[in-house]
Amino acid sequence: MYYSEFETAFEARLQTHTDVYPCAVEYHRARFDQTIQYLLSSILEQTEDLIQRPETNWTHTEEIVSDILYCGDITIKQLFSLEIPNQLTADRDFEAVKTKLYETKYYPISEHLNYISFPPALERKAFIRKHLDCFKGKSRFCDLGFGPGVLTAFILQQNTSWQATGVDVSQHCLQHAQRLLRKKGMLGRSELSVGDVRTLPYPDDTFDVVIAIEVLEHIPDPETGLSEAMRVLKPGGYAITALPVQLPLMMHLYDFDTPDEVLALYKKVGLEVIDFETKEFQRQTGAFVDTFALSIKS
Ligand SMILES: C[S@@+](CC[C@H](N)C(=O)[O-])C[C@H]1O[C@@H](n2cnc3c(N)ncnc32)[C@H](O)[C@@H]1O
Repeated sequence: MYYSEFETAFEARLQTHTDVYPCAVEYHRARFDQTIQYLLSSILEQTEDLIQRPETNWTHTEEIVSDILYCGDITIKQLFSLEIPNQLTADRDFEAVKTKLYETKYYPISEHLNYISFPPALERKAFIRKHLDCFKGKSRFCDLGFGPGVLTAFILQQNTSWQATGVDVSQHCLQHAQRLLRKKGMLGRSELSVGDVRTLPYPDDTFDVVIAIEVLEHIPDPETGLSEAMRVLKPGGYAITALPVQLPLMMHLYDFDTPDEVLALYKKVGLEVIDFETKEFQRQTGAFVDTFALSIKS
C-alpha cells in the first residue's frame, strides 16, 4: 500500500472514531504522527547498521540484486511484483511442497534474496567461510540441495581448481544456479543436476567434501538422506551440514526438537563432529535455533 492510500485509509478510520469519540481526535492524530516518526527512525537506524556491515553493504546488495535479475531473467519491476506462493498452510507432504513451492519461479529467487541480509543465510555462508580449509588440496565437493547456488558459487570462487557437483530436486533451482555459475564464469567447473538427496546418482566414496545445508529437514526421514550423503563421501572426507531446530514450516517435513537430537543423528550415521555451532534467531512467531556442523566420515 502506498503512503497516500494509507493516509486516506487512516483518515476514514479517524472519521469513524471522531463520530464516536469527538474529544479524542487530536490525541489520535498526534499518536499517529509519533508512530510514523518512530517507524521511520527505526528503519533508518536499521539501514544505517546494515550498510556499515561488510556482508550487507550496498555493494553486496547491488551484486545480489543484479545476480537475481540475471538468473531469474526478470526486471526490477517484475521482481517486486513476483507472487509469493500462499500455500504455507498446505499439507506437509513432499510432492505437494515440490509442486507448490520448489517448482515455482519465485522459489530460487526468494532463497537467493535471503543472502542480502537474512541472518540465518548469512550465517550459513560464514560457517562455510570459517571452514574453507577443509577444501584445501581437495578438488571435488558435492552440494546437496544447492537451491539458488549461492553457496556453490561462493566455494568455487575461492579456488579455480575446485569442482562442484550437486543435486537439487527443483528444476527451477537448477536453472537459476546454472545461470549464476555462468554469470560468474564457473559453469565449466560444475556438474549440477536435478536429483533427490535420498537416491544420489554417484558411486560410493566419490567426494572429498559433502555439503547439506538446510536440506535434510525438507524430507520426512533426514537419516535416509544423510546416510546417502555418507555413502558418496570418501572415508576421511568432510561433511558440512546445517539443520534448524524447532522451526516447523510447511516445507520442513521433519522437525528436530533439540541440538542434541541433531548430534545424535550425526553420530548414528558414523560422522565424527569436529565443530558444532548453535545460533538463535528471532522470527515474528518466536525464536528458533540453527545448528551448523563440520564432521569427518570416520
Ligand atoms: C532451504 S533451501 C537451501 C538451499 C541451499 N542449500 C542454501 O543454503 O542456500 C532447501 C533446498 O533443498 C531442496 N530440496 C528439498 N528436498 C530435496 C530433496 N529431497 N533432494 C534434493 N534437494 C531437495 C529444495 O529444492 C531447496 O532448493
